[in-house]
Amino acid sequence: MIVIGGSSSVGLAKEVANNLGCEFMQASTTRFPDGECYTRLDRESIEGDAVIIQNTYPDGNLVEMLLIRDAAVTLGAKRVIMVIPYFGYARQDRLFKPGEPMSAKVMCGILDRVCDKVVTVDLHKESTLDHFTHEHVDLKAAAAIAEHFKSEGIDMVLSPDIGASARAKDVGDRMGVPYDHLEKTRLSGTEVRIAPAKSDCAGKRILIVDDMISTGGTIIAASKALKEAGAASVTVACTHGVFVNNALDNLRASALKEVLCCNTIDTPASGISVAGIIADELRKG
Ligand code: R5P
Repeated sequence: MIVIGGSSSVGLAKEVANNLGCEFMQASTTRFPDGECYTRLDRESIEGDAVIIQNTYPDGNLVEMLLIRDAAVTLGAKRVIMVIPYFGYARQDRLFKPGEPMSAKVMCGILDRVCDKVVTVDLHKESTLDHFTHEHVDLKAAAAIAEHFKSEGIDMVLSPDIGASARAKDVGDRMGVPYDHLEKTRLSGTEVRIAPAKSDCAGKRILIVDDMISTGGTIIAASKALKEAGAASVTVACTHGVFVNNALDNLRASALKEVLCCNTIDTPASGISVAGIIADELRKG
């Protein structure tokens, strides 16, 4: 087995290969003057399976992944396993208005045609994977997050909405602390309203967990509600730190104690590694 890192995930791919004790190679990717992607796997052949680790976000990374896959197959890869730490378009998993595409399904359809197995991490909704006909698995970052925070004196784990409550339970159970969820209403792409917390948060050190932070609107509103409820401190850990429009700077300048995410996307806050859980899955074949 060889682990190939696409440009979005070089560090993570290296870590996964080290964990597995197998060969790592980085795809040499550049851009043509017109912006089109050029990539090359600088070797003569591939024997055995090729694991390609690359995000499908932003769009250019999807094209790079497809090109790396073709190069790997041409070099002789037996099976192609796509590890997609952050799967773009996962939030557009249903029709919100007539005339829209089912974007998440479209992405699955493209990838399904070109690989033998897909490994994702904390997909927005696990049911998205039902669109794959090949072997697929969605790994959970909860164990890595709980491990990171287990000796940080957290009193309670909360999710910002009911949709992420299973994640709060998973992390809370692993840390041996209570969990709950807040009530979120989305007002626009950047604004949300969070109802006052039902649980007693006064004096507590709270850890908010979510699958992703994009604009940061959800976490800013949640931490405000928790501070108003008397929380002693609010820390946030998400799996995917997308951090659009200076979201990370805004969050760090807020009353939050700490902002951390996993290394599914490489950011200055990516302090929790999912390499171990990916390697464990790849060991299964
Ligand atoms: C939504 O359901 C997700 O779980 C996240 O809470 C959301 O995508 C975060 O987006 P933002 O940071 O823009 O509020």
